[in-house]
Amino acid sequence: MTGLFITLEGPEGAGKSTNREYLAERLRARGLDVVLTREPGGTPLAERIRELLLTPADEPMADDTELLLVFAARAQHLAQVIRPALQRGAVVLCDRFTDATYAYQGGGRGLSVERIAQLENFVQGDLRPDLTLIFDLPVEIGLSRAAARGRLDRFEQEGLRFFEAVRQAYLARAHASPARYRVIDAAQPLIQVQQAIDLLVPELLGRFDG
Ligand SMILES: Nc1ncnc2c1ncn2[C@@H]1O[C@H](COP(=O)(O)OP(=O)(O)OP(=O)(O)O)[C@@H](O)[C@H]1O
Ligand SMILES: [Mg+2]
Repeated sequence: MTGLFITLEGPEGAGKSTNREYLAERLRARGLDVVLTREPGGTPLAERIRELLLTPADEPMADDTELLLVFAARAQHLAQVIRPALQRGAVVLCDRFTDATYAYQGGGRGLSVERIAQLENFVQGDLRPDLTLIFDLPVEIGLSRAAARGRLDRFEQEGLRFFEAVRQAYLARAHASPARYRVIDAAQPLIQVQQAIDLLVPELLGRFDG
């Protein structure tokens, strides 16, 4: 694989989508082939699985069902989009990836990290993001940004404790592997978040050349 795989993580309303666009523009301005995608989803089939995951329904979804659906969508996304893009040398900017599984299904739902790691190895082989940006902010701020957008999805209906566990799981992963993660203070005004991203661009270009 010759491309660069960058994932953007963080809770609802942290600014992942906003800053993914911003970073893509910066990298395209340097002439790079940039693929923007997201999880769960990123292909028509995987987007159908996303609908199952996000749409509130009367029948409660078992935690293991949720975990397997997330990885089923990921297998499809890897096969159809991510691996082909990396093979042709593109920069893939993916809004959420397996760190979100550790944060939401692990931290939030309380599923075992070992179980998630087994599925990660099964579905991804040795593919891991080259770099993961974690947009970190207090839970209440993220939820109020997300709520301002309208109807809440199945995850957004969870309580503060769930999102606090999600946040702590993200931070713990960044702390355990500092070389792979950058934690960005997403509570700052957007202009400052974008300045932090500007500072990352030379490093990303360096990794790409190397
Ligand atoms: N630093 C910021 N300060 C204030 N508002 C922001 C900031 N970053 C993003 N926003 C706003 O917050 C809202 C959520 O941003 P965005 O959609 O990028 O978040 P997200 O992380 O993609 O959320 P989700 O996980 O729900 O998709 C948008 O209205 C966006 O304009
Ligand atoms: Mg988004």
